[in-house]
Amino acid sequence: MDRNDNCWCGSKKKYKSCHLKFDEKIKGIKYSWLLGQTRPPRHIINNEHDIEGIKASAVINNGCLDMVGQLVKAGVDTETLDNACHEYIVSHGGIPACLNYEGYPKSVCISLNNVVCHGIPSKNTILKDGDILNIDITTIYNGYYADASRMFMVGNVSPEAEKLVRVTKECMDLGIAAAKPWHFLGDVNAACGNHALENGYTVVTALGGHGVGKHFHMEPYVAHIGEPNTGMLMVPGMVFTVEPMISAGRPEVDVDEEDGWTVTTHDGTLSAQWEKTILITDTGAEVLAW
Ligand code: MF3
Ligand code: CO
Ligand code: CO
Repeated sequence: MDRNDNCWCGSKKKYKSCHLKFDEKIKGIKYSWLLGQTRPPRHIINNEHDIEGIKASAVINNGCLDMVGQLVKAGVDTETLDNACHEYIVSHGGIPACLNYEGYPKSVCISLNNVVCHGIPSKNTILKDGDILNIDITTIYNGYYADASRMFMVGNVSPEAEKLVRVTKECMDLGIAAAKPWHFLGDVNAACGNHALENGYTVVTALGGHGVGKHFHMEPYVAHIGEPNTGMLMVPGMVFTVEPMISAGRPEVDVDEEDGWTVTTHDGTLSAQWEKTILITDTGAEVLAW
């Protein structure tokens, strides 16, 4: 790419005043093959316009999570919550990304207790006192995706469940705190997982976080356990989720054979998950969807 060409990022600025220095910096780094260090591909680098797009999508997604949180209480079925989310997203001009995604039948995922993720909302799943649940929502707005999930607790929850919910959030927050430009993604993976292990929990490794923005699931794959200084280089403009799934027991999971989606802990123990979408900036990470 010539200095005077339009930059590959789509900004319409000249390369020399856009990503030229950035490319030189990426090139100048020594990548350790042993540590699995890799360069980020260009297609996952977002320009200002893309970032504004993801932020606008996140406004709807965040608002939807705020809204549905108010509806969580004993006696409510999860299909009712799904309907409320669908209505909220559509009425704000968005599209629920989960609906029909690879055949997924509902607008959001609601995962109770031993369900790790991808719980399908149903009239027959009725919230009861003591339940912990994750509501995972992804919105598409103007072509841009924002993805986040939160845990909710119904009435009086056991101290064990409460601790799992709290520590899982801490795992996500520590992972995000470790997300810094010109460092490697393994820092994030390790920060998440080590905190879980230190608390006597295990990390579900069958699923992970992902790049997000112009598509639902993109590079990089974001594991929630790992070694610092390994994996993909984090650079400004990258947007990805941190979404640890933490089990109170063993980390193995099963996928429901009937519905093809519901992921449960194999040993039946509780699990929790939190998810945010973050942007790598020049100085650290900015949370876009929470
Ligand atoms: N929102 C989930 C994630 O965090 C993906 C759900 S896919 C679905 O990546 F089809 F199950 F909805
Ligand atoms: Co999600
Ligand atoms: Co996600």
